[in-house]
Amino acid sequence: MGYFRENVEKCEGYEPGFQPFDSAQDRPVQPNVIKLNTNENPYPPSPKVMEAIAGIGGEQLRRYPDPAGGVFRSAAAEVNGVSADCIMCCNGGDELLAMAFQAFCDEKRPAAYPVPTYSLYPVLARLQNCEAIEIPFDGEFNLPAKLAGTGAAMTIVCNPNAPSGSFVGVGELATLADEVSGILLIDEAYVDFSEDNCAGLVKDFDNMILLRSMSKGYSLAGLRFGYAIAQPSLIEGLMKVKDSYNVDAIAIAAATAAIKDQGYFKENVEKVKKARELLTAQLRALKFKVGRSYANFVLAESKERKAEEIYNKLVERNIYVRYFDLPGLGDKLRITVGTEEQNDRLVLALKEILSE
Ligand SMILES: Cc1ncc(COP(=O)(O)O)c(C=O)c1O
Repeated sequence: MGYFRENVEKCEGYEPGFQPFDSAQDRPVQPNVIKLNTNENPYPPSPKVMEAIAGIGGEQLRRYPDPAGGVFRSAAAEVNGVSADCIMCCNGGDELLAMAFQAFCDEKRPAAYPVPTYSLYPVLARLQNCEAIEIPFDGEFNLPAKLAGTGAAMTIVCNPNAPSGSFVGVGELATLADEVSGILLIDEAYVDFSEDNCAGLVKDFDNMILLRSMSKGYSLAGLRFGYAIAQPSLIEGLMKVKDSYNVDAIAIAAATAAIKDQGYFKENVEKVKKARELLTAQLRALKFKVGRSYANFVLAESKERKAEEIYNKLVERNIYVRYFDLPGLGDKLRITVGTEEQNDRLVLALKEILSE
């Protein structure tokens, strides 16, 4: 018998996007690499974040942090128009997903979600030893009608969806929350780049959990901070699953400064959205099929060349995008929206590759 539980032994584990790293200097490689593969924000976080980190004193590090991250809860509650007891801080949105699988799913309690979507969900299902009911999206990424009737203990809808960037309307998600028999977790990791979100629905549904991330719209992927929005009864239950001190003192201070600086955040998001529209037009001009994106990435289908070949040729030029060798995605590349300058360099490289 192996040391691991059978489902852990058999599980492949999640494969994060490649992070080019300069091990000699112990810091990420920056100058000549264009990194458009993990949906990071191309702009730095608010200067207020750096001030907050610089202001951390030894006393705050000597003591354990506030287990609930109260200052962040209040700030996030204000931004989202809910009360502070509807917010739970997490060590990145991914931690909330892991907690939700632990809290709601097991051998007899399946999870369901439309596919293709975030490839972490099946890994967490496998680790939790629960069945994953995967319902295919149609070609337009509309919500599959069958999703409502699976009987799953937890249904997940990633909205905007990764890697398609497509968006399901808030009204449709309200209907789904009414129809599913268990939890409806709406993964809004990319919602900062959309026109709408589900925060206004939480008061109406005691089975709805929203996932938010500070990694994308707030440029804090390295900090590891996310949060849940749900009715207090669900937040209280999820708190039982979380590590007592899941977010540290530095992260609480930095994430609070970021979410309070809504002016900087909105300006930053607008720049990314503008660059996204330009990139979409540039890719379409190169004959890629690109659907409308509501996130900070686009999914580009290659008609002319194999997506994997383009991916490899981009790597040769130090440009990293994401290629998934998965059903429905093998002919596509997911490209994070960079600065306009980075996007132009990508487009130039693609022009070269397609003319070879
Ligand atoms: C769809 C989706 N959900 C959640 C996350 C989690 O983000 P984080 O843990 O950085 O907050 C990601 C990260 O890439 C994501 O793509």
